[in-house]
Amino acid sequence: MTLTYAGASGGGVTAVRGLDLNVERGAFAAVVGPSGCGKSTLMKLATGLVRPTAGRIAVDEAMVEGPVKIAGMAFQNANLLPWRTIRDNVLLPLEIVEPHRRRFRRNKAEYAERADRLLALVGLDGFAERFPWELSGGMQQRTSLCRALIHEPALLMLDEPFAALDAFTREELWCVLRDLWARIGFTVVLVTHDLREAAFLADTVHVMSARPGRIVASRAIDLPRPRELDVCFEPEFVDIVHDLRSRISEVRQ
Ligand SMILES: Nc1ncnc2c1ncn2[C@@H]1O[C@H](COP(=O)(O)OP(=O)(O)O)[C@@H](O)[C@H]1O
Ligand SMILES: [Mg+2]
Repeated sequence: MTLTYAGASGGGVTAVRGLDLNVERGAFAAVVGPSGCGKSTLMKLATGLVRPTAGRIAVDEAMVEGPVKIAGMAFQNANLLPWRTIRDNVLLPLEIVEPHRRRFRRNKAEYAERADRLLALVGLDGFAERFPWELSGGMQQRTSLCRALIHEPALLMLDEPFAALDAFTREELWCVLRDLWARIGFTVVLVTHDLREAAFLADTVHVMSARPGRIVASRAIDLPRPRELDVCFEPEFVDIVHDLRSRISEVRQ
């Protein structure tokens, strides 16, 4: 698919061209590429937030023609609403997305329980009644993962979700995401510029070219699961990261 953003003076920016990506149901896919290559554009296309200039996108065997309801999303910034508790931030999509919207008021207690279960899964047991400003950046990002998952989406779309965190917190969150995925079993598309993150988490890492972005290489990561952080120091892992890095420097030429 191709997407050209319309420019003010008529000349548009072609963010992606000939981009072709297929992700199997239940798989964990990572997309890596240089800054500005069209990664966020890919996420917006796949979730129906923007329409392609040419080409087609299907999610769950249906053509994407508007915002995709079976997708949950999280971004670099947690973007929690400061006046809502952690639980009420997690519940927010249910107040918007059908069919939950209609049931929400009547079944609030049931949904609140679901939120609290998710919060416990990501290590935020007991924080439901707190406010965002009382939590660290990593805890806010855990909350944002729960919010993305509260409507039980079949597809989780993550756009550099850990990029704003320090290295230790980031690795903790890798494990949180690894465990959520293993336990719940949704499909993940993770966009990141962190090659270690991609190699640690994904089944397949797709490398994008510089703008206009397209997929120039796809590499299966056949490290056994469950993966522990120690794997990042093993020669096999280091080789994978080197290989990905060299593919990216090729496409930056
Ligand atoms: N809404 C927009 N209007 C015009 N140009 C845009 C818009 N969004 C992104 N772009 C341009 O498209 C290119 C790809 O952007 P983006 O998908 O955000 O890249 P990435 O996420 O890989 O950094 C960039 O050159 C960016 O400036
Ligand atoms: Mg981006």
